[in-house]
Order: sequence, then C-alpha cells, then structure tokens
Amino acid sequence: MAEVKSSLVYAVVLLSSAVFAFVEDLDDTFKDSRMGDIWLVDFYAPWCGYCKKLEPVWHEVGAELRSSGSPVRVGKMDATAYSGVASEFGVRGYPTIKLLKGELSYNYKGPRTKDDIIEFANRVAGPAVRPLPSKQMFEHVMGRHDVLFVYIGGDSPLKEKYIKVASELIVHTYFFSASEDVLPKAVTLNELPAVVVFKDGTHFSYDEYQDGSLSSWVNKERFLGYLQIDGFTLYELGETGKLVAMAVVDEKNPTEESIRLKTLIQRVATEYRDHYNRDFQFGHMDGNDYINGLIMSEVAVPSIIVLNTSSEQYFLPGEPVETMDQLLHFINSVLDGTAQAQGGDGFFQRVKRVAYDAKSTVMSVFRSSPLLGCFLFGLPLGVISLMCYGICTAESDEGAEDLELLKREGLTDEDEDDEGQRQARELELSGEQEKEDDQEEKSSVDKKVD
Ligand SMILES: *[C@@H]1O[C@H](CO)[C@@H](O)[C@H](O)[C@H]1NC(C)=O
Repeated sequence: MAEVKSSLVYAVVLLSSAVFAFVEDLDDTFKDSRMGDIWLVDFYAPWCGYCKKLEPVWHEVGAELRSSGSPVRVGKMDATAYSGVASEFGVRGYPTIKLLKGELSYNYKGPRTKDDIIEFANRVAGPAVRPLPSKQMFEHVMGRHDVLFVYIGGDSPLKEKYIKVASELIVHTYFFSASEDVLPKAVTLNELPAVVVFKDGTHFSYDEYQDGSLSSWVNKERFLGYLQIDGFTLYELGETGKLVAMAVVDEKNPTEESIRLKTLIQRVATEYRDHYNRDFQFGHMDGNDYINGLIMSEVAVPSIIVLNTSSEQYFLPGEPVETMDQLLHFINSVLDGTAQAQGGDGFFQRVKRVAYDAKSTVMSVFRSSPLLGCFLFGLPLGVISLMCYGICTAESDEGAEDLELLKREGLTDEDEDDEGQRQARELELSGEQEKEDDQEEKSSVDKKVD
C-alpha cells in the first residue's frame, strides 16, 4: 500500500515537473543566455491577479509550442525579483508578454487566451514576409485572412521598405510576397512593384504620394472597412488616426431604426470607400455604456456618432439621420469642419472627467450594493446631522453664544464637506486604480517594437 502510494506521489511529481518544464523559470542570467533563441516570456509579479490568471494558460502555451515543434522557447520571469532585467526589457506593467527575437522585442497586447498567444508567437517568430510561391498558396491564404497584405513584384527599394515595415508590424498582421503570375485573373494592377491589400471583397494598392509612409498606411488599412467596435477595438483604432463613424445600437433588441442606421453606415463604408476610406473607419457598437463613459454624456440608442480618437472630440448629427443623403451630409460636415465638435481634451474636459468618474463610482457603489452605499455615505451624514441637531437645539441664553453657535455651525458645515470630499477622493482613488488596471490591459497591446 505504502509502495503504491509512494509510486503514485512519484508519478504525480514526475508529471507536474514534466508540465512545468515547458515553461522555464528565468533569472538575471537570461539577459546573456537568450540570444541564440526566440523567447516568449511572461514577466509577472507574484502578487498580481492578472498574472495568476495567466499562469495555467501560460503552461498550456508552453506545452503546445513544445509539442508542435516550435522553435519558440517559453519562459517566465518574476519581474519584481529581477527588476533590473525586467526594466531593461521595458517591462512597465504586469503581466507583460514579450516575444524576444535577437535585437527585436515584440509586445503582446491581445486577449490572454492560449490560442491567441500561440497564434501571436507563431506569427511573430516566423519570417516577417512569407512568400506565396503558387496560385494554390495564394488562394489558400486569401481564404484564411480577412485582411491580406501582399507585396507583388521582384526586388526593389519598395520591397526593402516593405520588409522593414513587416518586421515591425508583424505584431498586428501577416505580410506576404508573391510574383505577378500567381495572382488570380480578376486582379489587375496598374503598376508594379506594388504593395496591395486584399479586403472587403476588393483590393487596392499603396500610393506613396497619397498615403504617406508605408507603415502608417498599413496601420490604417489593417482593419476591415466595417467593424463591430468595442472598447478595445476603439483603442486600437486610435492608432490609425482615422475618425470613427459608427452606429450605436442595441444588438439584442434591434429596432427597425437601428437596423436602418447600421445598414446606412455599412453602405457608406462600401459604396463610398474611395471617398472616405482615408479619413474614416466605419462600424457599429453594441450598447451605449462605453461611449457614454467616453464622452461623459448620454448617447441615444440607436444613433450615429463620429469620434476623433486623437482629440477625444465627437460629433453628433444636428438632425435625425434617416436617409443616405442625410448621413453623407453629416459625414461631409465633419470632414469640412462645419459640424460642431463636442468634448475634447482641454482643461475643462479634464476637470469634468474627474467629476464624472467620481460620480460614476458613487453611482456604481449604490447600484451594486445600496446598503454599502448608504453605510458609506449615509452614516457620516447621519452623524453630522445629529451633531447639527444637537448644536441647534442646545439652549442658549446669551447673544454672544448665538454668535459662537453660528461659527460652530459654519465649522460643522465645513466638516461635512471635508468628510464628503475625503470619501469622494477615496472612492475616486479606488476607481482610479481600477482604471489603471484597465490601462495595463490595454497598454499590454502596445504594438511598438522597442
Ligand atoms: C481630430 O483631432 C486632431 C488632433 O487634435 C486634429 O488635428 C484633427 O483635425 C481632428 N479632425 C477633425 C475632423 O476634427
């Protein structure tokens, strides 16, 4: 019996050590020893909740990359214990996921699921530009990617540029190259060599004179013309510098009007692509919660809104949009500057943001737990009013005392204010922290190559 037990324990130990071996524990010798390999590293802090959530996923990632024969080695480093090394790698939040490939370092900012992380590792670890040697290969990747960048032609300065851009932006999307003869018959290009993006059932080429730098063009074109937009997408879209025109709708209870608005936006995105694509990203958002928080005001559902993510300004149509003409008129008025911009990131808006966040924190405390809300805000108020009551009803027979009393009342008022402010501040602080966590998640999506 004892033997069975001990061999069982032995098996478990063996098994778990086998599982853990897929993820190597890294220390400060890593800095020098890593160079020969491609590494996928989780920089974590022992106390961080997101890191703990990532841990089982990370072991699966390690196991799967190993079993698939990937050259990528998977490691984790306690960034608090080896903070010097971590900061050399530019680790600022936890967890930070990086793929390190020689001199290059890529941040992973997508969803922390096994499949997404593995897809990222395989994409970034592979060649920056993947050749498509045959018609079949070309069709195969066309079928697999909604948005496909392809360099077409032989060696050229444009190709050099393309490779450089690809090695940076491979964190976001795949890059391919092909010769003209593997293109489907339907694809005709005016000029070669060319960088072409295939998406939305069509294709178009990068134009050095109109589109600016190749990397900013790729950044702008890596999204479909029409998207379902959530907070994360909106954050990513910020990098494109495009205005975001979208229908705010309720997907669960779509009214006739919301379907009409969505369809109108969709039609502008496709029918007026050439006209607006450089300036606008189109899409729809489910629900107005996120937008309300962003613009600190209540957006009707359904409605149409245009956001300038770089200035935090937004535009609402002056009159209800019912037809294509009205929508085009609105979009044009945003473009030519006649539409009235609201919001922004000026001083007043920042003050409003602080007040708005404090208010939403208070509201959310009451909403999620009215009792706690009453206790937090009601108790001090109750004590103060009792005190006031006591003071006011205290007997006073001298005029001098009356004066004194007034002063004290003034004081208690101040106390009340202080108390209120302190609480608001505390709440704000905790709200702030939550936001920082959010921020961390988002910033983990930094796509820059350090
Ligand atoms: C959006 O904001 C940027 C930065 O403030 C500004 O340069 C640009 O003109 C704005 N676009 C529109 C259409 O208002």
